[in-house]
Amino acid sequence: MTSLVRPRVDVAAARDLAEALLADLPQRWAHTAGVARRAAELCAAMDAADRDRVVTAAWLHDIGYAEPVRDTGFHPLDGARFLRRSGWTARISALVAHHSGACYVAEVRGLHHELAEFPRELSPVADALTYADQTVGPDGARVDVRARMAEMLARHGAASDNARVHHLRAPDILAAAERVEHRLRLAALAA
Ligand SMILES: [Fe+2]
Repeated sequence: MTSLVRPRVDVAAARDLAEALLADLPQRWAHTAGVARRAAELCAAMDAADRDRVVTAAWLHDIGYAEPVRDTGFHPLDGARFLRRSGWTARISALVAHHSGACYVAEVRGLHHELAEFPRELSPVADALTYADQTVGPDGARVDVRARMAEMLARHGAASDNARVHHLRAPDILAAAERVEHRLRLAALAA
């Protein structure tokens, strides 16, 4: 019998799990694959463990959209809870819970306490996951972070939860983007 305990970061298992769960959501799968590719490109300034961690989290970040995983309907929380009960590490679950400023949307949805089951990590890994997600569009293509947020607002609508917290979430995402781009410049200088 396959053990559910997976006490380590596992890029290949993350990819396989995401592919299986998102099989009925081809656009979400295309986006996820693009985010994982982007995350791998951002690893220049990270040590090996963090590289695998961010790419693993990238493969798993949107599994909360999959029907077998959906519960509250808030995909970062549903994905994180699924990963926790499936034996993924606490850090991977928490990175998924908090990707791309999820805490702001959780607040407006009344899910703040539920999301607080997972500690929010402030780190180069968390920044890179958010940056990768916010620089890859719904179809998996690379986009500018501001263009991505504008597209997201147009897609969700002006009355959406995302739009209601945009004034809080956008500066957080842009700050993460600046930190990532700064780290990439430093890594390029050091190369
Ligand atoms: Fe995403």
